[in-house]
Amino acid sequence: MKKIYLSQIKDGEPIPKDFYNGHGAVLIKHGTEMTALLRRKLLMNNIDCFYTDAAIFKPDIEKVPDISKEILKEIEVIQEVYQHSFNEFSQQMENLKKNHTFDKKVLNEIANELVNCISEHKQVYLGIQGIRRKDFYTYVHSIDVAIFAIIMGEALKFDKTYLRIIAHSALLHDIGKIKIDDKILSKPSKLNDIEMALMKKHTTYGYEIIKDELGYSEEMAKIAWEHHERLDGYGYPKGLRGNGIHLFSRIIAICDIYDAITSDRVYRKGVLPHRGVEYLMSIVDSHIDRELARKFILNIAVYPIGTKVSLNNGEKGTVVDFYKGFPLRPIVKINEKNIKRDLLKELTLFIKEVVED
Ligand SMILES: [Fe+2]
Repeated sequence: MKKIYLSQIKDGEPIPKDFYNGHGAVLIKHGTEMTALLRRKLLMNNIDCFYTDAAIFKPDIEKVPDISKEILKEIEVIQEVYQHSFNEFSQQMENLKKNHTFDKKVLNEIANELVNCISEHKQVYLGIQGIRRKDFYTYVHSIDVAIFAIIMGEALKFDKTYLRIIAHSALLHDIGKIKIDDKILSKPSKLNDIEMALMKKHTTYGYEIIKDELGYSEEMAKIAWEHHERLDGYGYPKGLRGNGIHLFSRIIAICDIYDAITSDRVYRKGVLPHRGVEYLMSIVDSHIDRELARKFILNIAVYPIGTKVSLNNGEKGTVVDFYKGFPLRPIVKINEKNIKRDLLKELTLFIKEVVED
């Protein structure tokens, strides 16, 4: 993904490419002249750079030592499905927004494709998922949430029918945002009370669109309605508690929060997966379901392949592989010694910290 810094464009110069906000809408059209006022406005909103294309999911995994050709091939397949789902999904959302048309067949195909792809390549996807953070679009967020939801569904032994339902629900969970003003959606600073009240309506709007406009089931619509509910009853819009919140909504809440904080946005960098996990742990029982959060953490890569880490014995290295179900004990290649430390076998060793570059 190409990044252009504001400092690279001088006052009086035309902006070279369309710049997007966090929701895929064009924020500044190419050709617009850069002015001191525009620059000040952007900087005031903490925007000092832009992404200029929609190329997503570009893992720089080739640089990881000892990665096999088979894995690289599988990554390619996943990338293709991901990019295709993104293109098709964005198209449907834009159609709905502009012309009130929506092809349910296409959504069904995307959901099926994702379910099949994740079932087949889960191990590889899990290993590289941290690299997915290079995105910034709401539509990409919906696809990521769908993928996490499918991974959760598989961990909970859902059959294919339920996997497809949860994939659909996850893809559509934020659909109500198409009715929210772009200015609110892409505001980089904190929303005021009025803006927040408007933003919260995306849950109810989502329910109405999914059920009334698109004619999906009550169950599917419910997930859009409930995905911001909290276990302790302090969520919105209804203030439901505990198991009064549908299981799918509780699952999607976890996927949604984790993806939101680990994703890069136009105005801020996402946190690394292990920090995302720490955050999830800090909100169990209050916001999210403890058992479901535990399942989630066990099934994602806390230290995805390519993560640079330091161990408690002082050695530094790169995560090159991991075991399913043991996210905290991957295999680490030690840079200087040219050896691999299998943390599942060398139990006195553990990852002390992630070395951020
Ligand atoms: Fe939402």
